[in-house]
Amino acid sequence: MISIRNIHKRFGAQIVLNGINLDIEPGKTTTIVGPSGVGKSVLLKLIMGILEPDNGEILIFGKNITKARSERQRNRIRRSLGVLFQSAALFDSLTVYDNVAFPLIERGGHSRRDIHNRVLFMLEALSLESYAYNYPEEISMGIRKRVGMARSLITEPKVLLFDEPNTGLDPLVGQEVYDLIISCRQKWGFTGVVISHEIPEVFQVSDRVVMLLNGNIIEEGSPEDLMNTQNVAVRQFLEGRVDGPIKIQ
Ligand SMILES: Nc1ncnc2c1ncn2[C@@H]1O[C@H](COP(=O)(O)OP(=O)(O)O)[C@@H](O)[C@H]1O
Ligand SMILES: [Mg+2]
Repeated sequence: MISIRNIHKRFGAQIVLNGINLDIEPGKTTTIVGPSGVGKSVLLKLIMGILEPDNGEILIFGKNITKARSERQRNRIRRSLGVLFQSAALFDSLTVYDNVAFPLIERGGHSRRDIHNRVLFMLEALSLESYAYNYPEEISMGIRKRVGMARSLITEPKVLLFDEPNTGLDPLVGQEVYDLIISCRQKWGFTGVVISHEIPEVFQVSDRVVMLLNGNIIEEGSPEDLMNTQNVAVRQFLEGRVDGPIKIQ
């Protein structure tokens, strides 16, 4: 369970988050949506303890990452989190195999044999065996996403965070990524947090949707609730209209 309490974050004069309260339910996928620049990635970085809030706190399974005193303490709390960044962010100089092995090696405490077995298992689970010795530049974007997923899952995180999992992909590959999220969640049962501006496409992986605007949560509910909302700003966003209370940046 992740508990976000009264989170405030500003950069200089720009108020990005203005008192966010949100409980992320275990075993479900919560999607945070909102127009570009609204603070979705900032919220994700606050959850991961990469950024510090000006006010408020974030508890991850009861542990306060915002009050952690050292990087070591933060790292311990981060162990329950896995992240899939926008670009999949693979290491270009490492093979698929070594990319997937990397988080285990970095974390330490695993024998070479244990690492090898886990990597093989994960490559098989995601049908990546035949790419094990390829480099990222030699494989397609869809396969890179699968490698990114394997690398995130190898440490068996309880919570998996996705930042714009399919931005910049063509629609077919984008759909592959959603299918991948759904099938992996069935298999591994993680709690999902997805950040996206792709609506309604992202709703297919969402149990609950939260919409951010002007520093606050302006709407939350099931995908159906959002589709049927009367909130003018949410409707504008859903319908992709330029006119309305949301100013396009
Ligand atoms: N490290 C930073 N320093 C200054 N401004 C930042 C920083 N990170 C994000 N911002 C600003 O905060 C706002 C929200 O950014 P972000 O969370 O990346 O938006 P999005 O919802 O598109 O993910 C943007 O205006 C961005 O320029
Ligand atoms: Mg972002």
